[in-house]
Amino acid sequence: MSSSPSLFERAPVYARYRPLRSGDRRRLRLTLERCPVPAGGLVVEIGCGTGRLLREFRGCRTLGVDPALPMLRQARGLRVVRGVAEALPLKSGSADLAFASLAFHHFPDKALAAAELHRVLRPGGHAAIWTATPEHVQTFPLNAWFPSFRAIDAARFPPPERWMSLLARAGFPRVAAEQFRVRRSPTLAWLAGAVGERYLSTFDHISEAEYRAGLRRLEREAAAAPGRRVDYSMEWSLIWARRY
Ligand SMILES: C[S@@+](CC[C@H](N)C(=O)[O-])C[C@H]1O[C@@H](n2cnc3c(N)ncnc32)[C@H](O)[C@@H]1O
Repeated sequence: MSSSPSLFERAPVYARYRPLRSGDRRRLRLTLERCPVPAGGLVVEIGCGTGRLLREFRGCRTLGVDPALPMLRQARGLRVVRGVAEALPLKSGSADLAFASLAFHHFPDKALAAAELHRVLRPGGHAAIWTATPEHVQTFPLNAWFPSFRAIDAARFPPPERWMSLLARAGFPRVAAEQFRVRRSPTLAWLAGAVGERYLSTFDHISEAEYRAGLRRLEREAAAAPGRRVDYSMEWSLIWARRY
């Protein structure tokens, strides 16, 4: 286990390496196609972090919820509140869309978080979960430098059916899922810089020895070919449901 502060205590690092990209904009457009929000409706992001996604919603009210103050400090100008998914600081039946993006795997009590999602939605409102797929975990390029990445993330990112049944058990009668692919092509130099700052929460779960060894190897390869591209796909799942 890493001894350095967790990624979410180092929010400027998160913000630097996770800017809003065109693929994120496409994901948000898809979210609104599947989960339409009426003009002036309330959109709540659970585990909103720096608020980079919430900032993109127009013509509606937004609220971000997250327990990490350093992350919330990055969400300047947005309406955000400190809180956890398992006890949302929101009235029942108040939200038109409640979503979590790359956050549900962090929630310690997922069943309670799903029940809270259901509670805060008004009838007709939608819940949406964006998460990485098992295919993504298997093909993620950093697996080549950090051997335990695959097993750590396989446990954190189960197949979409698991997220679907979580929502079904929370009271959503019909749950749908689809896959969404975003191509990425970082250079070795970019990857070495990002890994040097432990830009993913997976680094919070690996040993210091594994981290140091993998980073040294990656830095050596990046020094030899800084502009070499590492092509891969971010394989996302969108799981969504309507509250009846
Ligand atoms: C990978 S970040 C994602 C942030 C944002 N959704 C985005 O896509 O940039 C995960 C976020 O989940 C938050 N988080 C962790 N545990 C949580 C909990 N129990 N309830 C709500 N948010 C939580 C973390 O503080 C962090 O900001």
